[in-house]
Amino acid sequence: MTTHAPSWSPLSWKHKLAAQQVVYPDRAAVDAAVAKLAAFPPLVTSFEVERLKSLIADAQQGKRFLLQGGDCAETLDDCRADVITSKLKILLQMSLVLVHGLKKPVIRVGRFAGQYAKPRSSPTETRDGVTLPSYFGDLVNAHEFTPASRAPNPELMVRGYQHAAVTLNFIRALIDGGFADLHHPEYWDLKFLAHVHVPDDLRRRYQGMAAQLAEALRFMEALGETAVADLNRVEFFSSHEALNLLYESAQTRTVPRREGHYNLTTHLPWLGERTRHPDGAHVEYLRGIANPVGVKIGPNTAPDELLRLLTTLNPRNEPGRILLIHRMGAARARQALPPLIRAVRDRGHRVLWVCDPMHGNSTTTRAGIKTRLFSDILDEIYAAFDCHAHEGTILGGVHFELTGEDVTECLGGAAGVTEDDLSTDYRSPCDPRLNYAQALELAFAIAGRAAEPRTTE
Ligand code: PEP
Ligand code: CO
Repeated sequence: MTTHAPSWSPLSWKHKLAAQQVVYPDRAAVDAAVAKLAAFPPLVTSFEVERLKSLIADAQQGKRFLLQGGDCAETLDDCRADVITSKLKILLQMSLVLVHGLKKPVIRVGRFAGQYAKPRSSPTETRDGVTLPSYFGDLVNAHEFTPASRAPNPELMVRGYQHAAVTLNFIRALIDGGFADLHHPEYWDLKFLAHVHVPDDLRRRYQGMAAQLAEALRFMEALGETAVADLNRVEFFSSHEALNLLYESAQTRTVPRREGHYNLTTHLPWLGERTRHPDGAHVEYLRGIANPVGVKIGPNTAPDELLRLLTTLNPRNEPGRILLIHRMGAARARQALPPLIRAVRDRGHRVLWVCDPMHGNSTTTRAGIKTRLFSDILDEIYAAFDCHAHEGTILGGVHFELTGEDVTECLGGAAGVTEDDLSTDYRSPCDPRLNYAQALELAFAIAGRAAEPRTTE
């Protein structure tokens, strides 16, 4: 299993050890599903992938900022117009707040159209003495706790692909049709600012920002049709964790007049914290594709290990190729991040530093509900800005688990979700997401910090 594949191919990962591997009982059914996937037309084009890479290269130089967000686990059932529209709406609104605050263009990347596969800390789950496979995302099995639902089913890869296609088709249609009304802050839901616990100065500040933004957008529109057309041409890119390598490699191909292989299920695949072993199958797969690649790094990442990973994934130090998405946790970020920043900086590796303030900040309530505190999320973002400023590097993006709906999964924020509220509308089958108000508030907080940099140490 661990012998070295002599050279890369879309399937050379099969010679390596794969963490989080799914054991499908029926090999013939897997082969049939993979053959179907391979025959489908691609979801994205190499042209779009290369465009994203060039935007990321700009962001590496501080000319753009990246906003990546969406569900922890997308589900097939949530492939619905209202859910997709509200996700686009919150991402677009956050991006406008960030453009306004950071004074630079924002690259919008959804965790959508394929975010169906989940790594798990344990391969099995036990409830009331019954042990079944864990839920590995809708690409692999179903969430319901029954033997039939939890059995890995290869046909779900095909269904996942089809749902990703339907999702992207709708997103492309919305974008082509213009998102004009969503640009107007008068349609934004800022009710959460009215909450009694929101300090007056914060309320005034955020309301002021929204008003200034409205003014700027009106000004743009007043400039005439070209400006409006530009404003309406919003761009979204798709991303997901490249976890199920059967799925990823089935749609990895060469394209006419370009060198190399592209993963055409998504613009931006990423490598998870649990699958980034330098000798593992996931790194082997990702090293050979031409897409930009995100790499999640947690607080236990050793600088040497990270450097080795970067050399393997980006031997030519290509601009726009690597995003390092750090997810340290608010409590550990200020210790864990600087040594990694220095190691990468001193070797001259080109990376885009992105802060994921979600995955290091998960906690469980006394009632056993998995949640995250808004204040921890914000603290980690501030810590990340401070660490990069201190080391002379650039925090070039943020990565969130969020939804456009009013769910109650994360605690706190101006809207004041409490522990008692968590059971009111907790829908995520996996990690807790920011709701609409919490997500927008974070964008305001980042924009506000950019306007008035401060050190929170
Ligand atoms: C995720 O992004 O949902 C995830 C599992 O992250 P990580 O690999 O950083 O734990
Ligand atoms: Co998650």
